[in-house]
Parts: sequence; C-alpha cells; structure tokens
Amino acid sequence: MKDITEKEFNMIRTYIKSTFGINLGDEKRSLVYSRLRTVLQDKNIDSFSDYYDYLIADKSGEAVTTFIDKITTNHTFFMREVDHFYYFRDTVLPFIKTEFEREKDLRLWCAGCSSGEESYTLQMFIQDFFKNDKSWNTEILATDISTTVLDKAVYGVYTNESIAALPRTWQSEYFIRQDAETSVVTDAVKKLITYRKFNLMDEKFHFRKKFQVIFCRNVMIYFDAKTRDELVQKFYDLTEPGGYLFIGHSESLNHTNTKYKYLMPATYRREK
Ligand SMILES: C[S@@+](CC[C@H](N)C(=O)[O-])C[C@H]1O[C@@H](n2cnc3c(N)ncnc32)[C@H](O)[C@@H]1O
Repeated sequence: MKDITEKEFNMIRTYIKSTFGINLGDEKRSLVYSRLRTVLQDKNIDSFSDYYDYLIADKSGEAVTTFIDKITTNHTFFMREVDHFYYFRDTVLPFIKTEFEREKDLRLWCAGCSSGEESYTLQMFIQDFFKNDKSWNTEILATDISTTVLDKAVYGVYTNESIAALPRTWQSEYFIRQDAETSVVTDAVKKLITYRKFNLMDEKFHFRKKFQVIFCRNVMIYFDAKTRDELVQKFYDLTEPGGYLFIGHSESLNHTNTKYKYLMPATYRREK
C-alpha cells in the first residue's frame, strides 16, 4: 500500500473539517495514515486517493461510519474532571429543583458523550439527588457522531476496574455484576438516558425545549476557533436563562465572543 501524499492528506482533512468540524494540523498526517491504513488493507484499496473516492461515493453509510470511528478520539472515563460533577450536584441540581419546580422536568444534554461513562455518571448523580422525589422527569439526552461508541453506551457494559471510580454504593445500586471482569448498568438507569447520533456540525439544531445544562467536554478541543464560536452560540441559544455550560478543563471559550458568563474554569452560565 502506498504512503499518504500531502495532496491526499489535504483532501481527507478538508473533508473531516467540513463534515465533522475536526481540525487536523500538518503534523497529523502520520496519524491519519496509521488510523486508516487497516481500512484500506481490509478493502483492498491501494492508495489514499482511491480510498477518498470510495468514501465520497459510498451511499450505504458504512464507509463514513468506519471513517468516523477511526478518526475520532473517544477517550473517556467515569467521574472524569470530577469537580464538575460536585458543582453539578451542589449548585446546578438545587438550582433546577427550585427554578423548575412547577414543570418538574430536568433537561440535560451531554454532547459528545462517547461510550457513555460521562452520561451515566451524570445520571447517577441525578438519581442520587432526586432519590426522595420521584415526581421529576429526569431523562437526559446524550449524543455523539460515532455509532460505535453510542452502541457501547446503550449496551452499558463496563469493566469492574473502570467503575471502581464510582462510589461503592453506586456500583452495587446502579450496576449488575456480570463476572470477575465486567458489570452492566441497570435497566432502570439505562432507560433514563436517550442515546442519539448527532453531528454538532449540523446547521440547524432542532430541539423542542431549551436545556438547563449542557455538557460538551473534550469535544471542541478538536475544532478551530470559528467552528467553536459558532457551536457555542448555538448552545447558548439552547440554554435556559440561568442554565449552565460545561466544557473540558483543557478548553476555553472566547470570552469576548460569547454571551455566556464565566463562572470558573470550564464552567459557564447564561444569565437569568
Ligand atoms: C474525547 S471524547 C469526550 C467524551 C466525553 N465528553 C468526556 O469528556 O469524557 C470526544 C467525543 O466527541 C465526539 N465528536 C467529535 N466530533 C463530533 C461532532 N462533530 N459531532 C458530535 N460528536 C463529535 C467523538 O466521537 C468523541 O466520542
């Protein structure tokens, strides 16, 4: 199989940028090569130009699904950047409970949820918080562009080692141990999360109601400033007055462009 030429790399990265917002610098040429090499081999495709033609021409969706899985970085884990979850528990949930008491409707969007660890962590905090008040609708939305990670999230099977980051009581209450290696999230928790494929680059976001909270952590890190600013504006328009946006700790918003108010690192709020 031939190496990836500069021209081929440029074609592929332009496609990635325009379709998924992911911005790959010059230094990512060998990464693209190494991540896609096996796909070309499996398909008996000899050059990246031919692969590109195949990708663009494929109408079945299979080529693009595999491509997304190879190109996206899906690293995640339970309780990641844990101070956000404590702030969510101590400040955000009490705010929602008070302000939306009449509707009793919690609306949270976990955007770029990967294989589900973040959305399940959030749902466990929510279940804990509303333990003595079952009158609330606590279903949340979690989306990603990769169907492979979404399938994993829906399946809800995790290693016992990975769930060890959660409190012990949650491990026994919200999981069923399958064997020495793995546990599965209980149906009761699973049914409170709707997993959907959603591309954050879609021009229009159609949601019936605004969210009180949006988590979009460690996703925009791969986007350029313009793409990020446009996405943040869409998030803002979809945030209830007084609602919150959480981004990854290694990310930041352009404070002059955004209407969100900065609260603390990686935490923003739409003013009431
Ligand atoms: C590094 S993971 C972050 C997972 C989780 N939010 C966390 O912080 O642990 C980034 C996720 O963003 C998703 N992603 C990247 N570009 C996207 C896009 N344009 N639309 C939707 N999801 C996207 C990837 O598929 C990946 O699962």
